[in-house]
Amino acid sequence: MLDTEQNSPVLPPEIDRRRTFAIISHPDAGKTTLTEKFLLYGGAIQMAGQVRAKGQARNTRSDFMQMEKDRGISVSASAMSFEFRNFWFNLVDTPGHSDFSEDTYRTLTAVDAAVMVIDGAKGIESQTRKLFEVCRMRDMPILTFCNKMDRESRDTFEIIDEIQENLAIDVCPASWPIGVGRDFLGCYDLLNDRLELMDRADRNVVGESVEINGLDDPKLAEHVPAELLEQFLEEVEMARELMPSFDHQAFLDGTLTPIWFGSAINSFGVQELMDGIGNFGPKPQVRPADTRPIAPDEPKVTGFVFKVQANMDPKHRDRIAFVRLCSGHFRRGMKLTHVRTKKPMAIASPMLFLASDRELAEEAWAGDIIGIPNHGQLRIGDALTEGEQLRFAGIPSFAPELLQSVRSTDPMKAKHLDKALNQFAEEGAAKLFKPVIGAGWVIGVVGALQFEVLASRIELEYGIPVRFEPSQFTSARWLTGPQEDVDKFIDINKGHMALDHDGDPVFMTRLQWDIDRVERDYPALSLSATKEIL
Ligand code: G4P
Repeated sequence: MLDTEQNSPVLPPEIDRRRTFAIISHPDAGKTTLTEKFLLYGGAIQMAGQVRAKGQARNTRSDFMQMEKDRGISVSASAMSFEFRNFWFNLVDTPGHSDFSEDTYRTLTAVDAAVMVIDGAKGIESQTRKLFEVCRMRDMPILTFCNKMDRESRDTFEIIDEIQENLAIDVCPASWPIGVGRDFLGCYDLLNDRLELMDRADRNVVGESVEINGLDDPKLAEHVPAELLEQFLEEVEMARELMPSFDHQAFLDGTLTPIWFGSAINSFGVQELMDGIGNFGPKPQVRPADTRPIAPDEPKVTGFVFKVQANMDPKHRDRIAFVRLCSGHFRRGMKLTHVRTKKPMAIASPMLFLASDRELAEEAWAGDIIGIPNHGQLRIGDALTEGEQLRFAGIPSFAPELLQSVRSTDPMKAKHLDKALNQFAEEGAAKLFKPVIGAGWVIGVVGALQFEVLASRIELEYGIPVRFEPSQFTSARWLTGPQEDVDKFIDINKGHMALDHDGDPVFMTRLQWDIDRVERDYPALSLSATKEIL
């Protein structure tokens, strides 16, 4: 049987009501504030302000260190589950800082939809664009929230045009703002014909909602001053003429984004957005694997690890693997097969993350994110199944943009350093390259801040003082091709070769010219800046 609305098979009700999504935005657009309001309306927290610590721990080194120490916050904030009306939302956090973008890209492989938050005064910013492009590659449905409408913001048409032109996606207004800045009154909900008025007095209270019978309902004039009303009616008329109306299929195909205008801090427009995620957002989707596509309603459980995070207790070196369940009905205590090692794993204490709390997950369904504590067996990209040998496709690993060599300033601890570095590589916090010739390691990261975070964590968690030093290389590329050619190449270019954490060969250089030369002289080989983790 097909669900005609989403053109997909009818799912068991528990899977059907799941919505798994991430928020993408440029730092400061209001992601943390919006998350907080989601949790507030989802009944997961009692008061706004509880996830604030994370929002403040944004940009500076010391804040990151604090966050690392305070791993409780960062762990539980990686995934948050809560109910809203009849829906079960799984919100997966994407780190805001651009230094951690690889983590963000991977996170996006675990969700079915994204909410794009933009600042009404700033429009599309660099990080929003990058993340949007990742979503676009996967044709992921995107809902847009234009935030900070309580402040001076750009003209509504200008904002919509910018999204359409910059991101090449159709935009359909789901609401229309009335007044700007100080005069911002609220929005007209174009999908439900309601007037939503903002309450500036209490930020945690939703303003008045007035049911309106179309735009010529005289009730509008009772709530909107004449000069604003005239302009608003003109704008809506124009918008309806110029802009596409809401087309659910186009949204699910990722070619049209509905936009809501609001103010997260004033709790305004947030519930309408949540209704949008619930009513229109995709249900858990079919996932591509190397052998066949996996449908969410298949009875057997499958899932993959998209993130690994060190646990709160550094003494035990426990880690939590975040797993996106792709199919089936998971129950605590189940024995799943760890596909990479082919070993069975009893999942005795899976966790669900409920805002600032975590609790044992007695059960979970396709679409859910569960945390599995482990001692390092689970790596990013690993699949868990009920015995089937399969691997989920599309989990990317990017070539690092910065390389440095690392050594312990205490020679007695060199061996322990190997262990620490391996752990961070497994967590995905850094790339680890072992040069074919000589001792030591080359560490690759995406942003400079990561070196500092790493040095501090190695010292804090392993008691090893380390120093990062410039490496003679600046670029790393994965080398693939027929085994014989690869072996021959490695033999001739030993000084440039290393093996990554999985034992895959990597070519390192400081010259783009070198990369071009290899591509020209060795047509059977290819050098790649990304590797799909399989
Ligand atoms: P981020 O996670 O995307 O980086 O953004 P975050 O929510 O931390 O918000 C960034 C800043 O924008 C915060 O101010 C926040 O209070 C403010 N903000 C969020 N939503 C709105 C809104 O609807 N209207 C207005 N006017 N401001 C909003 P801050 O000064 O950096 O922090 P704080 O002192 O308020 O905590």
